[in-house]
Amino acid sequence: MKRVFSGVQPTGNLHIGNYLGALVQFVELQEDNHCLYCIVDLHSITVEQDPAILKEHILDIASLYLAVGVDPKKSIVFVQSTVAAHSELAWVLMCNSYTGELSRMTQFKQKSKDSESAPTGLFCYPVLMAADILLYDTDIVPVGNDQKQHIELTRDLAIRINNKYGETFVVPDGRFLKESARIMSLDDPTSKMSKSAESEASRISLLDEPARIKKAIMRSTTDSEGSIRFDVENKPGVSNLLNIYSSFSGKGIEEIEAQYEGLGYGAFKKDLVDIVVEGLSPIQERYRDIRYSNELLDVLREGTEKAEAIASQTMKRVSERFGLGI
Ligand code: AMP
Ligand code: TRP
Repeated sequence: MKRVFSGVQPTGNLHIGNYLGALVQFVELQEDNHCLYCIVDLHSITVEQDPAILKEHILDIASLYLAVGVDPKKSIVFVQSTVAAHSELAWVLMCNSYTGELSRMTQFKQKSKDSESAPTGLFCYPVLMAADILLYDTDIVPVGNDQKQHIELTRDLAIRINNKYGETFVVPDGRFLKESARIMSLDDPTSKMSKSAESEASRISLLDEPARIKKAIMRSTTDSEGSIRFDVENKPGVSNLLNIYSSFSGKGIEEIEAQYEGLGYGAFKKDLVDIVVEGLSPIQERYRDIRYSNELLDVLREGTEKAEAIASQTMKRVSERFGLGI
């Protein structure tokens, strides 16, 4: 069995892009791999957070993991800050990474460009991510394309340390989502659906009520041509809606195109509303059962224990290799 690790930041609620792009894969992977799914709260404080809201978001995301089908009997679900070894290993890795390579990370460049005083944590963000991954002898990291550079850095660090100090880390591979799995913003289909976009109309959150889902889909940007046809270049809005329709219904794009031949956007969008509402309803129901239950806290505590057991082995090895401790 391969070891799989992935993490999601507890900033805002997950949207259907996260679901179709990442969570569906998480659920599939747990069938024949040993998976760890982490809520990376330490990463989220690289940007200022309201403490009370952060706490809620951590539990929201954990509940959503379980609601979409991540099974705590198969996978380890835990919160990053509850396993101290993430921060410990990050320090060791920081001592082996160069300011030059971290300055070249595009995410850091983007997030720090308007600010004279970017926090050091933002600069070291990719090193903490490398620690998350290397701590568990991870083979595969399922993530979005935007994380490619961070995975490369993780591999570089693992190889660098293995060469210098002897075999210490497993060198992980990224498993990147296909471009077609990218769900685009509903009001600007040329940019990715994102948690942080200001416009609420741009996304559908997994916990949205039917009325909001309806509003978002009915108002979504299309084009003036009027035909339901997959053509990302010329019809990005309709193509995005076709992708969402196909993912939620399990029907192929061509089958959907044929079904709506000669019909207008109105009928298509109306059906899509029903399909998305129906698709999200069992997730929302399970979410409501889990979110305020003792079961949730039990799962997370157990996750911490299981993760710690693996992490402490790695840290023992790291300490030995580096000559740390007594
Ligand atoms: P983020 O919301 O950026 O923290 O991403 C969490 C996970 O969801 C990552 O694996 C992303 O690749 C994935 N993801 C985020 N936005 C989208 C999107 N619009 N379409 C598909 N996958 C996405
Ligand atoms: N940086 C990732 C993102 O924004 C989140 C993350 C943190 C992560 N640690 C990780 C993803 C380890 C995979 C593995 O999406």
